[in-house]
Amino acid sequence: MKLTAISALFVVAVVGSPTPPPNVHSNMGRTQRILLNSRSNPTNSSKAFDPKTVWDQLDSVYHKYSATMRAYQRNTGSPHPLNSRFDVRSGAKRNGNVPLVNYNADLWYGEIDVGTPPKTFTVVFDTGSSDLFLPSTECSVSCAGHTQYDPAASSSAKDSGQPFVLMYGAGETAGEEYVDDVFVGGYEAKDQTVGGAWLYSPEFSKDGSFPPDGLSGLAFREISEFEESPLFQTLDESGKLPQSVFGFKLSTTPGDSEMVIGGTNTNLYRSDTLSYVPVTDKGYWQVEMDSISRLGQEVIESQAAPAIIDTGTTFVITSYSIAQSYYANISGATAHTEGADTYWTIPCDIINSTVPTFTFGGRAFKVSAQTYNFGPDDLSSDCLAGIAASSEMDFTIVGDVFLQNVYSVFDYANTRVGFAELA
Ligand SMILES: *[C@@H]1O[C@H](CO)[C@@H](O)[C@H](O)[C@H]1NC(C)=O
Ligand SMILES: *[C@@H]1O[C@H](CO)[C@@H](O)[C@H](O)[C@H]1NC(C)=O
Repeated sequence: MKLTAISALFVVAVVGSPTPPPNVHSNMGRTQRILLNSRSNPTNSSKAFDPKTVWDQLDSVYHKYSATMRAYQRNTGSPHPLNSRFDVRSGAKRNGNVPLVNYNADLWYGEIDVGTPPKTFTVVFDTGSSDLFLPSTECSVSCAGHTQYDPAASSSAKDSGQPFVLMYGAGETAGEEYVDDVFVGGYEAKDQTVGGAWLYSPEFSKDGSFPPDGLSGLAFREISEFEESPLFQTLDESGKLPQSVFGFKLSTTPGDSEMVIGGTNTNLYRSDTLSYVPVTDKGYWQVEMDSISRLGQEVIESQAAPAIIDTGTTFVITSYSIAQSYYANISGATAHTEGADTYWTIPCDIINSTVPTFTFGGRAFKVSAQTYNFGPDDLSSDCLAGIAASSEMDFTIVGDVFLQNVYSVFDYANTRVGFAELA
């Protein structure tokens, strides 16, 4: 199997490399954004009710019954008599909305349901890869605490008879491919290929800082190690999605992150700022970045810097030469290199004035100090900066350090990526 740099970096960035950057997790004191929650902050109190509150209520009733019916089956060994009258498939998560949970500003994950009857799993939605894997009930290595996929308990599961190995920089998973029905945001992906893992390396274990059960790749089939249709493609081919698009808002504020399948959440961004760039090479969500600048000065002069938009990578990771020119003029910026990887620290009193601006499709998007500044190292008063480098890559992976500052639109039909300023 191939070992892709993206996969490798995903794991390096998300689940920690052999030489982790200075205590990334210690940065709990960052300021939080204002919640956009009409329930807790009604804008029009003269109205009799807030429709969103009602939808939320109905949604939670569905969830309660869905969960308790699953519990009934678990506890008694047979489905609840009302289960067949309960439409698990159309689901309550209508409108494609998938709430996401953030873990330590490192990774974001949400729910999918798999199989018949459906069982709920949590996965990282990763636009930098294209395969879906979950720990299977066969997994006895590093899978403790995760929800495990049991193909024998799903009447819609089919064994593909195809073993898989997915290799990452700091770990791997191996197992067997199945096809089964997968539900996300109220939509169904029939006969979706699901990797049932027999083995997780320690980085994917719960105590290896990987709270979700698995990972779902949302890039194109061209980079699928399974050589099968990735989840979003399968959903799209169902013909049920209102639009062949998905959107992300990522935030460290609890309750403030979400993915939308089949559209975007227009409440979360300023439509007049939405700016698209074409995917140059279908595989990754790969686009051209106009520039990276700092204090109004361009660091990349080339108009054609390849950039991969990757929700599954925490940092912005670029070539060593780009990163070096980025940090060159910042007094006190210190490179820390281990093998091919380098990260930079900057004195904490000035780091906030060294934030980057990324320009895509002619529109500049500034990165906030909050997402760029990872806080102090354990050993010094220097703060970790959000742009790292790999000497093995001559392109840029645009990860969550940037993506938290924008609403991002992954337009599958028109193979383009859009960014907009947050509302
Ligand atoms: C860095 O310093 C050099 C030389 O002083 C200057 O030419 C260049 O414009 C500066 N670049 C930035 C990004 O400040
Ligand atoms: C830098 O920004 C962070 C996040 O907004 C803030 O918590 C911190 O106090 C700022 N540091 C300085 C020195 O202004």
